[in-house]
Amino acid sequence: MAAATTNAADVAPATKPTLLTDLASSVSHVPSNFVRPLGDRPNLQDVQSAEGSCIPLIDLQDLDGPNRSLAIRKIDDACRNYGFFQVVNHGVPEEVVEKMVNVSREFFRLPESERMKSYSDDATKTTRLSTSFNVKTEKVANWRDFLRLFCHPLGDYIHEWPTNPPSFREDVGEYCRKMRELSLRLLEAISESLGLEKDYINKALGQHGQHMAINYYPPCPEPELTYGLPAHADPNAVTLLLQDDVPGLQVLRDGKWLAVNPIPNTFTVNIGDQVQAISNDRYKSVLHRAVVNCAKERMSIPTFYCPSPDAVIGPAPDLIDPHHPAQYRNFTYGEYYHQFWNRGLAKETCLDLFKAD
Ligand code: OGA
Ligand code: NI
Repeated sequence: MAAATTNAADVAPATKPTLLTDLASSVSHVPSNFVRPLGDRPNLQDVQSAEGSCIPLIDLQDLDGPNRSLAIRKIDDACRNYGFFQVVNHGVPEEVVEKMVNVSREFFRLPESERMKSYSDDATKTTRLSTSFNVKTEKVANWRDFLRLFCHPLGDYIHEWPTNPPSFREDVGEYCRKMRELSLRLLEAISESLGLEKDYINKALGQHGQHMAINYYPPCPEPELTYGLPAHADPNAVTLLLQDDVPGLQVLRDGKWLAVNPIPNTFTVNIGDQVQAISNDRYKSVLHRAVVNCAKERMSIPTFYCPSPDAVIGPAPDLIDPHHPAQYRNFTYGEYYHQFWNRGLAKETCLDLFKAD
């Protein structure tokens, strides 16, 4: 293509950090740095829709009554066979969720100069706005901007967060507190479903860590050519995903991509690599991806609940026996997380690097 026809949109992010939010509205084609090679495209016509094959939906109210053991069995089944489940009656007030979604949307609508105050492409920063996945290491960009916030212990991080919109810290802080409570309840239920003491995973996580992303996926003129996020497994312990009403999340099941369409007032929970390791492969940290669409912007807000960096992770001794030898060596979460960020979103799970000899 002649140089004269090159427009600003074709300038690679390396030259100037460009937030996708601002670029997306000005292009009618996907710029070349977002285009996936032919063998690595979403093939959206091959995706199964959720009807009839939906991932399990679990009513968390059942955890507090006579149906607890039934709910625990359902969680066990979901974690073994899907690596994913959705939860209703989860105890996070609707108003808290609504404020979280609204303040996030307002953030992404601020003028670029205001948003850029939070920009950094240094993946070690505990509060940062960035784009794609890891602009320093990746070859093809993703159709996503994201604000990443560490949030536990909240007091260590909240002072780094944006102050615009003015209610940001209060609304997001409250959401984080509620999501921590929910995460702890889920970790108890998951420990129990593995046949471990209720507080087993809680203890394994050391001082605990919690962070979140506010993912913003603008409408995309050619959604067949690119991803919001390509296939990956989450490196943390569990992820609790809040989606708005626009579909985009897909989960790999029996070799096929399955759309997990949003259900109001639910969270989508998935097992991350650390729980897979603790469970000695009984539970699966499953590949999933986010696709984009040409009609609507989409927001998703994952809460990543994880070990603290010094926590030592490995298969629970009670889950190791002659029929189930230890699948992983012990490692620290800090070591794991470093590998995850530096190798990019590869299809092979990062856990393979931590296999037992
Ligand atoms: C993630 C993720 C899915 C989505 O951020 O790890 O998988 O639907 N997001 O945005
Ligand atoms: Ni993920």
